[in-house]
Amino acid sequence: TDIDAKLYEPMRRHTTMLVGGPAQYWIEPHSFEAFAAVVNCCRERGIAMRVVGRGSNLLVRDGGIRGAVIHPTGGAFTECRAEDGKIIAGAGVRLKKLASVAQAAGIGGFEWMEGIPGNVGGALRMNAGAMGTETFDQVVSVTFLDEDGEIRTRSREAIVSNYRDVPELRRNFALQAVFEGKPDTAEAIQGRWDASRAKRRASQPVAASAGCIFKNPTEVPAGKLVDELGLKGSGEGKARVSEVHGNFIVNGGGATASDVLAMIERIKASARETRGIELETEVKV
Ligand code: EPU
Repeated sequence: TDIDAKLYEPMRRHTTMLVGGPAQYWIEPHSFEAFAAVVNCCRERGIAMRVVGRGSNLLVRDGGIRGAVIHPTGGAFTECRAEDGKIIAGAGVRLKKLASVAQAAGIGGFEWMEGIPGNVGGALRMNAGAMGTETFDQVVSVTFLDEDGEIRTRSREAIVSNYRDVPELRRNFALQAVFEGKPDTAEAIQGRWDASRAKRRASQPVAASAGCIFKNPTEVPAGKLVDELGLKGSGEGKARVSEVHGNFIVNGGGATASDVLAMIERIKASARETRGIELETEVKV
């Protein structure tokens, strides 16, 4: 069949932070039609649902998730190919894979994706970005399941994308997208790929994390702020602020979601009291 499902699947297996309790229904549709059937079924029955890709920007509480957690994977969801100088990728394709398919096809501009531990669907939903580029800079069109249960395609011009947020993709679920880059040589692409990796390795931790925890406020980058507050290295339970970058909370091994949430609250309180800055999580909590 083109759907696999499990009951009470631990979400710590499906998040890069390696924390989180069970998903009541863990459902893996392997085709757009199967995905639509699952979503429409949940909508008809009033079952809470959310879609999770690689779980890299997600903090699941220890109590888990009631309802359905839908993880698109396999079939068209994990297909990625170059066509007419563009890249067509399913929602379940890893960004690193997209970048390497582009490189092999001589299409540059995707190198910033090399180290992002996310899938295409999540990157579209949150307009993921790094190294000065964001996902929607390179989107040509997005195919999605809309609120009426219909599969539609819309061009970038017709989609509002903000810093780390694409409002329309909250209830319309991305299935696939077409991306564009610039024709380039393999060597030039490899050079930018290596530069991106070197910069990331020097400035971001390798330990389990959910990437940047807070959105950058207008006043100062969140990582710099946490650094100035003297909180790098401080911990709650088994969760602690990375010594490498102040906007990362890392799982030191065996952390719980409560540990991470306590650390988040401590940072927010410190930023509020010391600088009058209200930090907002970038990670979905
Ligand atoms: N800084 C410090 N101390 C720190 C961390 C940073 O002083 O502990 C300073 C840096 O020296 C730099 C400034 O703060 O002057 C900004 O830091 P960085 O260049 O690392 O970028 P960022 O704003 O912290 C953003 C994205 C990252 C992305 C990087 C690289 C957000 C919230 N974060 O980080 O995205 O990888 O740029 O392009 O927009 C993510 O979304 O999960 C993420 C990691």
